[in-house]
Amino acid sequence: PGDIFPNRSNSAGVDLGDPLVREPLIERLDKLRARRWHAEPTFLFEDQEGEVAPITKPHDLTIEVGTRRDTLPEEVEQAIRIADAVQPGWNALGGEKRALLLEEAADLFEEHTDEFLSLCQREAGKTLPDAVLELREAVDFLRFYAGEARRLFSGSFALPGPTGEENRLTMAGRGVFATISPWNFPLAIFIGPAAAALAAGNSVVAKPAEQTPLIAALAVKLCHRAGIPREVFQLLPGAGEVGQFITSDPRIAGVSFTGSTETAHAINRSLAARDGPIATFIAETGGQNAMIVDSSALPEQVTRDVVASAFQSAGQRCSALRMLYIQDEVFDEMVAMIRGAFEALVIGDPGDLATDVGPVIDPDAKAALERHVARRRKNGRTVWRRKLPRGVANGCFVAPTIIELESISDLRRENFGPVLHVARFKAKELEKVVDDINATGYGLTLGLHSRIETTRQFVEARARVGNFYVNRNQIGAVVESQPFGGEGLSGTGPKAGGPNYVARFATERVVCIDT
Ligand code: NAD
Ligand code: ALA
Repeated sequence: PGDIFPNRSNSAGVDLGDPLVREPLIERLDKLRARRWHAEPTFLFEDQEGEVAPITKPHDLTIEVGTRRDTLPEEVEQAIRIADAVQPGWNALGGEKRALLLEEAADLFEEHTDEFLSLCQREAGKTLPDAVLELREAVDFLRFYAGEARRLFSGSFALPGPTGEENRLTMAGRGVFATISPWNFPLAIFIGPAAAALAAGNSVVAKPAEQTPLIAALAVKLCHRAGIPREVFQLLPGAGEVGQFITSDPRIAGVSFTGSTETAHAINRSLAARDGPIATFIAETGGQNAMIVDSSALPEQVTRDVVASAFQSAGQRCSALRMLYIQDEVFDEMVAMIRGAFEALVIGDPGDLATDVGPVIDPDAKAALERHVARRRKNGRTVWRRKLPRGVANGCFVAPTIIELESISDLRRENFGPVLHVARFKAKELEKVVDDINATGYGLTLGLHSRIETTRQFVEARARVGNFYVNRNQIGAVVESQPFGGEGLSGTGPKAGGPNYVARFATERVVCIDT
């Protein structure tokens, strides 16, 4: 489609390299440390007691950041009833007016940069550079989907036909959309799908991850302040059971889910078991992402890109590198260089600017990663592990780890954290390597480091993967430039931040008039 919005640019973010920006920001963030936050359903029954759960800092579980009041089943029912009643009016508003409201929300998000950065650090354990990227992506989604509201919902598209016949296609919201989101992008992936659904003329009931409802609550509050009606965009905090109540309701016209492949299967089953209209299901799920490095690659560049892809965000990106294949001839040299950079990673409090690797999200995530490393050790694999620094015992820290394996087929599940696997391959085995990666069934990101054009062409043609990155890292897709999403076990598409995304939230209607 080319550049569909040539005059649009992505958010400038916060220049942490400039001390005149950085130092005052850090002082302001220090002042926000004491603030307590709360998340609750947009419309709650005041007289009924819902469970109130504490939200603690992943890097120190003794510190409470705020509380979450879970949505009761009757409140889910009420939320969907209200959202259903107001959706036709929201749809009738048209693309231009909805775009203006989403753009106003984007401006308010930028005005509230400090609060969002503080929450990303404290509630989700993000480092400051990751928090800045997260906010930028959220703002970019709001503005890009606002543009899509204008482009797709400002009238009808003329269709061809014989003389005497007028054919037109219009797009409209489907009804009530449920958006169910993960904790690892608690702002960008909470607001992105909701903004797309709203842009298309749907009302939205949004369930954030149970670990990160506070960031979501601030995002919804600012959208309401921007003028998006509370009835049209509602927050429903809670654990997976709240998601189950939502998806089992036949009035839900569509679900946009981002999270694990297992949960996507559960939601798919729940939607299939319902009576009533057939729901649209958009799922963006996990990955078993590989990178292939051949002997023509530049070692310094490989080292930088491997470390970023595997350990930035403590490996808690769906796009993160899990399985690194290095050509036999350069394996020892490359692994030595990667280990050198790995030994220099600073592990610790995400509030410290020097920190490269913060905590994982919660004790369950930590336990699952520790079990994985212990099993590989028991099986006699070579394991390189960093030592955790002092003073992190109260937090969910996992020591960055590199494990040598034979092949990606030794991995069954996504290991969602700072654990990288490495394997050797011979030049003549390239085809088998790509086939083994395809055979996992996942298809999210793939990296290649090679200076050989025919190798790039071969891998690009054979790999079944959503986002293929060559001679760079494989994380941090940028809205509009690298629309993001996978295939197979990694998701249904369409790609977030791309030209086909918002249309999937809409229904199409055709009018044919004999003139
Ligand atoms: P998760 O599947 O455990 O939870 C995601 C959301 O689903 C949460 O809000 C959760 O409460 C809800 N949920 C759980 N069970 C449910 C059910 N039965 N019905 C309805 N909702 C239910 O995932 P997570 O641990 O929060 O997130 C990490 C996962 O997300 C990783 O697998 C990662 O790869 C994936 N992810 C994918 C993308 C992508 O774009 N492909 C982006 C970010 C994260
Ligand atoms: N869009 C995120 C990334 O590319 C998941 O890292």
